[in-house]
Amino acid sequence: MGRMLNKAVERLEFLGQISDNPRSLVRTYLSPANRQAAECLLGWMAELGMKTEHLSDGTVRGVLPGPEPEAKPLLLGSHLDTVINAGKYDGALGLIAALAALEELRDEGIQLPFPVHLLGFSDEEGVRFQTTYLGSRGVTGQLDPATRNRLDAAGQSQALVLATEGWHEGASEIHYEHGNVRGYVEIHIEQGRILEECDEPACVVSGINGQSRLLVTLTGRTEHAGTTPMELRRDALTAAAEAILATEKLARDQTGLVATVGKIEVLPGGSNSIPGVTSFTLDFRHPVDAERVRLLKALEDSVRKITASRQLELDWQLVQENDAVVCDAGLTADLCDALERVTGSRRQLASGAGHDGVAISKVAPVGMIFVRCRAGLSHHPEEYASPADIGVGIRVLVEFLKSLPA
Ligand code: GLV
Ligand code: MN
Ligand code: MN
Repeated sequence: MGRMLNKAVERLEFLGQISDNPRSLVRTYLSPANRQAAECLLGWMAELGMKTEHLSDGTVRGVLPGPEPEAKPLLLGSHLDTVINAGKYDGALGLIAALAALEELRDEGIQLPFPVHLLGFSDEEGVRFQTTYLGSRGVTGQLDPATRNRLDAAGQSQALVLATEGWHEGASEIHYEHGNVRGYVEIHIEQGRILEECDEPACVVSGINGQSRLLVTLTGRTEHAGTTPMELRRDALTAAAEAILATEKLARDQTGLVATVGKIEVLPGGSNSIPGVTSFTLDFRHPVDAERVRLLKALEDSVRKITASRQLELDWQLVQENDAVVCDAGLTADLCDALERVTGSRRQLASGAGHDGVAISKVAPVGMIFVRCRAGLSHHPEEYASPADIGVGIRVLVEFLKSLPA
């Protein structure tokens, strides 16, 4: 286990260096670094004796067929992409921990009695198109026309980017549907502060909170900054500022609600022109779906009042909506048994972050293991999980895999 853990930590460091930016970690959908990370993972899968393949969207798969290659596979996986200025563990940990667990089983001379597919998804974070789970939605047939038409910062649609920048040479098709998968299990850092607070290295995930992602555009009028009287202005940026503060106030006042404006664009973007158009992203999450929907409607109503009072037009565009997912009872019980054998705890936590299991839950039961991360800090370069805690996560996965019947 010690040698295998050292190798896992070295691999995390190695992947953490593969970036599109020399000064910080970033790997977005179909970027050169994303592809390089995918090739690196394919190499490690091949070293383990897996049959490897890739999709044109940059998602990769390694297959261990087992004694009955036609039996329903167990899927393991996580994502290869990162946010902007990311840490090294979000996504990468799940892939490297799964490889380490499979290596451990091989070294113990254990062949699992069912096929295992390890999947590295090329997009989970949704940075390039502000729409998430492109990889896991892709392999489960859930990419709808609205998603395919989403534009990146250069104004290119997802469909066009896939056609022009995709990894087409030698690409496979991978498709999972309801009934042909045994389950999906992912290891991920916890990203909150709860495991630190309760001083436990790992836990099992009970479910994943729902989220809505929106693009909000306010349109007023661009005019001269030096000559337009203050009372005649239709300034889209000051209205957006009011709307963003209303968002923050709502989320502070409502238990369970978290809401974030992470990206804003101001046009025309000159210091001496009044902003005529302002667009911002809105990430809106709540553990209870009905409450998320109700509170989002309440926010929309107040933003409409703000824009109407300033004579602005409002485009309130829902980009993506995912209901909360409850992890599968059977997988969760087996994961809790495995956790208990390793740490003595059966702790379960709900995930505030989104994960590929949300998309995969449409076709298969999902289960997850969380590993403590320092101070709960994530989507930040100082994100860190200790080798000891990573080792616990890997051991839980090994125990779980050993416990599954044919
Ligand atoms: C993924 O990290 C998300 O929850 O946005
Ligand atoms: Mn993330
Ligand atoms: Mn993640």
